[in-house]
Amino acid sequence: MLFNKPVTDIIRQRKSIRSYMDKPIEEEKINTLKKFLSTNTIGPLETKSRFIFITAAAQDKKSLKGLITYGMIKNPMGFIIGSVENAPYNLEDFGYLMEKNILKATDLGLGTCWLGGTFSSSRFAQKIALQNNEILPAVTPVGYAISKINAIDSVIRNASGANNRKPWSSLFLKDDKPLSMEEAGHYATPLEMVRLAPSANNFQPWRIIKDSLSNTYHFYMKRNPGLKQFFFMKADLQRVDIGIAMCHFALTAEEKGLTGVWTIRNPKLKGMANKLYYTATWIGSNE
Ligand SMILES: Cc1cc2nc3c(=O)[nH]c(=O)nc-3n(C[C@H](O)[C@H](O)[C@H](O)COP(=O)(O)O)c2cc1C
Repeated sequence: MLFNKPVTDIIRQRKSIRSYMDKPIEEEKINTLKKFLSTNTIGPLETKSRFIFITAAAQDKKSLKGLITYGMIKNPMGFIIGSVENAPYNLEDFGYLMEKNILKATDLGLGTCWLGGTFSSSRFAQKIALQNNEILPAVTPVGYAISKINAIDSVIRNASGANNRKPWSSLFLKDDKPLSMEEAGHYATPLEMVRLAPSANNFQPWRIIKDSLSNTYHFYMKRNPGLKQFFFMKADLQRVDIGIAMCHFALTAEEKGLTGVWTIRNPKLKGMANKLYYTATWIGSNE
Protein backbone atom coordinates (compact mmCIF):
# COMPACT_ATOMS: atom_id res chain seq x y z
CA MET A 1 0.00 0.00 0.00
CA LEU A 2 1.26 3.44 -0.97
CA PHE A 3 -0.04 5.33 2.09
CA ASN A 4 -1.33 4.44 5.56
CA LYS A 5 -4.37 6.70 5.27
CA PRO A 6 -6.85 7.28 2.40
CA VAL A 7 -5.25 9.65 -0.13
CA THR A 8 -8.33 11.89 0.08
CA ASP A 9 -7.62 12.46 3.81
CA ILE A 10 -3.95 13.16 3.09
CA ILE A 11 -4.80 15.67 0.34
CA ARG A 12 -7.26 17.45 2.63
CA GLN A 13 -4.74 17.53 5.45
CA ARG A 14 -1.78 18.89 3.43
CA LYS A 15 -1.01 22.59 3.46
CA SER A 16 2.23 24.50 2.94
CA ILE A 17 4.33 24.69 6.11
CA ARG A 18 7.00 27.41 6.26
CA SER A 19 8.00 27.25 9.98
CA TYR A 20 9.19 24.06 11.61
CA MET A 21 9.65 22.80 15.17
CA ASP A 22 13.09 22.16 16.57
CA LYS A 23 12.37 18.43 16.54
CA PRO A 24 14.49 16.06 14.45
CA ILE A 25 12.76 13.59 12.16
CA GLU A 26 12.91 10.03 13.52
CA GLU A 27 15.32 7.59 11.85
CA GLU A 28 12.45 5.25 10.92
CA LYS A 29 10.54 8.00 9.09
CA ILE A 30 13.72 9.12 7.31
CA ASN A 31 14.26 5.58 6.06
CA THR A 32 10.61 5.13 5.00
CA LEU A 33 10.71 8.36 3.03
CA LYS A 34 14.07 7.55 1.42
CA LYS A 35 12.77 4.16 0.32
CA PHE A 36 9.66 5.77 -1.15
CA LEU A 37 11.73 8.33 -3.11
CA SER A 38 13.98 5.67 -4.54
CA THR A 39 11.09 3.86 -6.24
CA ASN A 40 9.18 6.97 -7.35
CA THR A 41 11.15 7.90 -10.45
CA ILE A 42 9.13 7.45 -13.66
CA GLY A 43 6.27 9.86 -14.37
CA PRO A 44 3.01 8.99 -16.17
CA LEU A 45 4.34 10.70 -19.31
CA GLU A 46 7.49 8.61 -19.09
CA THR A 47 10.25 11.00 -18.10
CA LYS A 48 12.69 10.12 -15.39
CA SER A 49 13.31 12.01 -12.16
CA ARG A 50 15.69 11.49 -9.24
CA PHE A 51 14.98 12.47 -5.64
CA ILE A 52 17.15 12.63 -2.54
CA PHE A 53 16.25 13.38 1.06
CA ILE A 54 18.87 15.21 3.07
CA THR A 55 18.61 15.80 6.79
CA ALA A 56 20.94 17.53 9.22
CA ALA A 57 22.43 15.52 12.03
CA ALA A 58 21.19 16.85 15.38
CA GLN A 59 24.47 18.66 16.12
CA ASP A 60 24.87 20.02 12.60
CA LYS A 61 21.74 22.00 11.79
CA LYS A 62 23.86 24.80 10.28
CA SER A 63 24.57 22.57 7.30
CA LEU A 64 21.04 23.14 6.00
CA LYS A 65 21.00 26.86 6.73
CA GLY A 66 22.97 27.95 3.69
CA LEU A 67 20.54 26.18 1.43
CA ILE A 68 17.64 28.52 1.85
CA THR A 69 15.53 30.46 0.32
CA TYR A 70 15.51 34.12 0.97
CA GLY A 71 14.43 33.79 4.60
CA MET A 72 10.94 32.47 4.08
CA ILE A 73 11.46 29.00 5.49
CA LYS A 74 12.21 28.73 9.20
CA ASN A 75 14.12 25.86 10.76
CA PRO A 76 13.68 23.04 8.21
CA MET A 77 14.86 19.63 9.43
CA GLY A 78 15.49 18.29 5.94
CA PHE A 79 14.87 18.76 2.25
CA ILE A 80 13.60 16.63 -0.59
CA ILE A 81 15.58 17.68 -3.66
CA GLY A 82 14.55 16.51 -7.10
CA SER A 83 15.88 16.66 -10.63
CA VAL A 84 14.37 15.65 -13.96
CA GLU A 85 15.87 14.89 -17.34
CA ASN A 86 15.42 17.30 -20.24
CA ALA A 87 12.47 15.96 -22.24
CA PRO A 88 9.18 17.31 -23.60
CA TYR A 89 6.90 16.47 -20.63
CA ASN A 90 9.53 16.60 -17.91
CA LEU A 91 7.96 19.34 -15.79
CA GLU A 92 4.54 17.68 -15.70
CA ASP A 93 6.14 14.37 -14.72
CA PHE A 94 8.28 16.09 -12.10
CA GLY A 95 5.17 17.74 -10.60
CA TYR A 96 3.42 14.36 -10.47
CA LEU A 97 6.30 12.55 -8.76
CA MET A 98 7.29 15.29 -6.32
CA GLU A 99 3.66 15.70 -5.22
CA LYS A 100 3.53 11.96 -4.54
CA ASN A 101 6.60 12.41 -2.30
CA ILE A 102 4.91 15.32 -0.55
CA LEU A 103 1.77 13.26 0.07
CA LYS A 104 3.93 10.49 1.52
CA ALA A 105 5.63 12.96 3.87
CA THR A 106 2.18 14.26 4.89
CA ASP A 107 1.07 10.68 5.54
CA LEU A 108 4.05 10.35 7.90
CA GLY A 109 2.87 13.43 9.82
CA LEU A 110 5.53 15.73 8.33
CA GLY A 111 5.07 19.24 6.96
CA THR A 112 6.33 20.36 3.53
CA CYS A 113 6.21 23.38 1.20
CA TRP A 114 6.76 23.34 -2.55
CA LEU A 115 9.53 25.85 -3.37
CA GLY A 116 9.80 26.59 -7.05
CA GLY A 117 10.78 30.21 -6.97
CA THR A 118 12.32 31.16 -3.69
CA PHE A 119 15.37 28.97 -3.37
CA SER A 120 18.98 29.29 -4.45
CA SER A 121 19.40 26.39 -6.81
CA SER A 122 23.18 26.03 -7.05
CA ARG A 123 23.66 24.62 -3.53
CA PHE A 124 20.83 22.16 -4.07
CA ALA A 125 22.25 21.25 -7.48
CA GLN A 126 25.53 20.39 -5.78
CA LYS A 127 23.81 18.16 -3.23
CA ILE A 128 22.03 16.11 -5.90
CA ALA A 129 25.02 16.18 -8.29
CA LEU A 130 22.90 17.65 -11.07
CA GLN A 131 23.85 16.28 -14.50
CA ASN A 132 24.08 18.23 -17.77
CA ASN A 133 20.91 16.67 -19.13
CA GLU A 134 18.89 17.48 -16.01
CA ILE A 135 17.17 20.45 -14.38
CA LEU A 136 16.17 21.09 -10.78
CA PRO A 137 12.70 22.68 -10.86
CA ALA A 138 11.74 22.70 -7.17
CA VAL A 139 12.53 21.43 -3.68
CA THR A 140 10.60 21.05 -0.43
CA PRO A 141 11.66 21.50 3.17
CA VAL A 142 10.48 18.74 5.51
CA GLY A 143 9.88 18.78 9.26
CA TYR A 144 7.29 18.99 12.00
CA ALA A 145 5.03 22.01 11.67
CA ILE A 146 5.07 24.48 14.53
CA SER A 147 1.63 24.39 16.05
CA LYS A 148 0.94 28.13 15.90
CA ILE A 149 1.08 29.89 12.54
CA ASN A 150 3.56 32.80 12.74
CA ALA A 151 3.55 36.27 11.17
CA ILE A 152 5.56 35.37 8.03
CA ASP A 153 3.35 32.37 7.33
CA SER A 154 0.17 34.32 7.70
CA VAL A 155 1.41 37.17 5.44
CA ILE A 156 2.40 34.66 2.72
CA ARG A 157 -0.82 32.68 3.11
CA ASN A 158 -2.97 35.81 2.90
CA ALA A 159 -1.05 37.25 -0.06
CA SER A 160 -1.60 34.16 -2.18
CA GLY A 161 -5.08 33.43 -0.75
CA ALA A 162 -3.69 30.03 0.18
CA ASN A 163 -6.89 28.78 1.77
CA ASN A 164 -9.06 29.71 -1.20
CA ARG A 165 -9.79 27.54 -4.19
CA LYS A 166 -11.72 28.35 -7.36
CA PRO A 167 -15.21 26.84 -7.64
CA TRP A 168 -15.96 23.77 -9.76
CA SER A 169 -17.67 25.93 -12.37
CA SER A 170 -14.37 27.72 -13.18
CA LEU A 171 -12.26 24.58 -13.38
CA PHE A 172 -14.24 21.70 -14.90
CA LEU A 173 -16.19 21.74 -18.16
CA LYS A 174 -18.23 19.58 -20.52
CA ASP A 175 -19.69 20.64 -23.87
CA ASP A 176 -18.34 24.15 -23.20
CA LYS A 177 -20.43 24.48 -20.03
CA PRO A 178 -19.55 23.95 -16.35
CA LEU A 179 -19.49 20.28 -15.40
CA SER A 180 -21.71 19.40 -12.43
CA MET A 181 -20.72 16.91 -9.74
CA GLU A 182 -23.62 14.69 -10.85
CA GLU A 183 -22.31 14.59 -14.42
CA ALA A 184 -18.87 13.65 -13.11
CA GLY A 185 -20.35 10.62 -11.29
CA HIS A 186 -17.60 8.48 -9.73
CA TYR A 187 -15.06 11.02 -10.96
CA ALA A 188 -16.45 13.78 -8.73
CA THR A 189 -13.96 12.90 -5.95
CA PRO A 190 -10.84 12.74 -8.18
CA LEU A 191 -11.84 16.15 -9.60
CA GLU A 192 -12.47 17.59 -6.14
CA MET A 193 -8.97 16.41 -5.14
CA VAL A 194 -7.55 18.36 -8.13
CA ARG A 195 -9.40 21.44 -6.88
CA LEU A 196 -7.65 21.16 -3.50
CA ALA A 197 -4.17 20.79 -5.02
CA PRO A 198 -1.34 23.24 -4.31
CA SER A 199 -0.16 25.44 -7.17
CA ALA A 200 2.50 28.12 -7.65
CA ASN A 201 1.13 31.39 -6.24
CA ASN A 202 -2.13 29.49 -5.78
CA PHE A 203 -2.99 30.42 -9.40
CA GLN A 204 -4.80 27.07 -9.93
CA PRO A 205 -4.15 26.89 -13.68
CA TRP A 206 -5.70 23.44 -14.15
CA ARG A 207 -8.75 23.20 -16.41
CA ILE A 208 -10.30 19.81 -17.16
CA ILE A 209 -12.77 19.10 -19.95
CA LYS A 210 -14.84 15.92 -19.80
CA ASP A 211 -15.76 14.15 -22.99
CA SER A 212 -19.53 14.33 -23.69
CA LEU A 213 -20.13 10.60 -23.53
CA SER A 214 -17.29 8.78 -21.85
CA ASN A 215 -15.05 8.92 -18.78
CA THR A 216 -12.36 10.68 -20.77
CA TYR A 217 -10.90 13.79 -19.13
CA HIS A 218 -8.67 16.23 -21.03
CA PHE A 219 -6.22 18.20 -18.87
CA TYR A 220 -5.41 21.78 -19.94
CA MET A 221 -3.50 24.72 -18.53
CA LYS A 222 -4.87 28.23 -18.31
CA ARG A 223 -1.65 30.15 -18.44
CA ASN A 224 -1.21 33.08 -16.11
CA PRO A 225 0.89 35.37 -18.30
CA GLY A 226 2.87 36.96 -15.44
CA LEU A 227 4.28 33.87 -13.84
CA LYS A 228 6.69 32.53 -16.41
CA GLN A 229 8.63 35.75 -16.62
CA PHE A 230 9.46 36.18 -12.92
CA PHE A 231 13.25 36.35 -12.78
CA PHE A 232 13.57 33.95 -9.86
CA MET A 233 11.51 31.14 -11.36
CA LYS A 234 13.60 28.05 -12.01
CA ALA A 235 11.15 26.51 -14.46
CA ASP A 236 7.73 26.89 -16.00
CA LEU A 237 5.91 26.21 -12.74
CA GLN A 238 2.45 26.12 -14.29
CA ARG A 239 3.46 22.96 -16.12
CA VAL A 240 4.56 21.54 -12.77
CA ASP A 241 1.11 22.49 -11.42
CA ILE A 242 -0.57 20.37 -14.12
CA GLY A 243 1.52 17.36 -13.06
CA ILE A 244 0.42 17.90 -9.45
CA ALA A 245 -3.22 17.90 -10.59
CA MET A 246 -2.68 14.68 -12.56
CA CYS A 247 -1.19 13.10 -9.45
CA HIS A 248 -4.17 13.96 -7.22
CA PHE A 249 -6.58 12.80 -9.92
CA ALA A 250 -4.90 9.46 -10.66
CA LEU A 251 -4.16 8.49 -7.04
CA THR A 252 -7.74 9.25 -6.02
CA ALA A 253 -9.17 7.39 -9.02
CA GLU A 254 -6.98 4.40 -8.21
CA GLU A 255 -8.14 4.39 -4.60
CA LYS A 256 -11.77 4.42 -5.77
CA GLY A 257 -11.12 1.49 -8.09
CA LEU A 258 -11.38 3.62 -11.25
CA THR A 259 -8.87 2.38 -13.78
CA GLY A 260 -7.56 4.37 -16.70
CA VAL A 261 -4.52 5.36 -18.72
CA TRP A 262 -2.82 8.64 -19.60
CA THR A 263 -2.32 9.50 -23.25
CA ILE A 264 -1.26 12.58 -25.15
CA ARG A 265 -3.72 13.09 -28.00
CA ASN A 266 -5.06 16.63 -28.36
CA PRO A 267 -8.81 16.39 -29.11
CA LYS A 268 -8.64 19.91 -30.67
CA LEU A 269 -11.87 20.99 -29.00
CA LYS A 270 -13.48 24.29 -29.96
CA GLY A 271 -14.90 27.00 -27.69
CA MET A 272 -13.24 27.62 -24.34
CA ALA A 273 -10.52 25.06 -25.07
CA ASN A 274 -9.14 27.51 -27.65
CA LYS A 275 -7.78 29.71 -24.88
CA LEU A 276 -6.19 26.82 -23.01
CA TYR A 277 -3.00 24.79 -23.46
CA TYR A 278 -3.61 21.05 -23.83
CA THR A 279 -1.39 18.67 -21.82
CA ALA A 280 -2.74 15.12 -21.53
CA THR A 281 -5.86 12.97 -21.38
CA TRP A 282 -7.10 10.41 -18.86
CA ILE A 283 -9.05 7.61 -20.57
CA GLY A 284 -11.09 5.90 -17.87
CA SER A 285 -12.14 2.34 -18.49
CA ASN A 286 -15.06 2.21 -16.01
CA GLU A 287 -18.62 3.18 -16.83
C1 LIG B 1 5.13 24.47 -8.20
C2 LIG B 1 4.95 25.27 -6.91
C3 LIG B 1 5.90 26.21 -6.54
C4 LIG B 1 5.77 26.93 -5.34
N1 LIG B 1 6.75 27.81 -4.97
C5 LIG B 1 6.69 28.44 -3.76
C6 LIG B 1 7.76 29.27 -3.33
O1 LIG B 1 8.75 29.46 -4.03
N2 LIG B 1 7.65 29.86 -2.10
C7 LIG B 1 6.57 29.66 -1.28
O2 LIG B 1 6.54 30.20 -0.17
N3 LIG B 1 5.52 28.86 -1.67
C8 LIG B 1 5.56 28.25 -2.88
N4 LIG B 1 4.54 27.41 -3.29
C9 LIG B 1 3.39 27.14 -2.39
C10 LIG B 1 2.09 27.81 -2.85
O3 LIG B 1 2.12 29.18 -2.60
C11 LIG B 1 0.90 27.13 -2.12
O4 LIG B 1 0.84 25.78 -2.50
C12 LIG B 1 -0.44 27.77 -2.44
O5 LIG B 1 -0.48 29.11 -1.97
C13 LIG B 1 -1.61 27.00 -1.78
O6 LIG B 1 -1.44 26.89 -0.38
P1 LIG B 1 -1.36 25.48 0.33
O7 LIG B 1 -0.19 24.73 -0.24
O8 LIG B 1 -1.18 25.79 1.79
O9 LIG B 1 -2.65 24.75 0.04
C14 LIG B 1 4.62 26.72 -4.50
C15 LIG B 1 3.67 25.77 -4.90
C16 LIG B 1 3.82 25.06 -6.08
C17 LIG B 1 2.81 24.03 -6.44
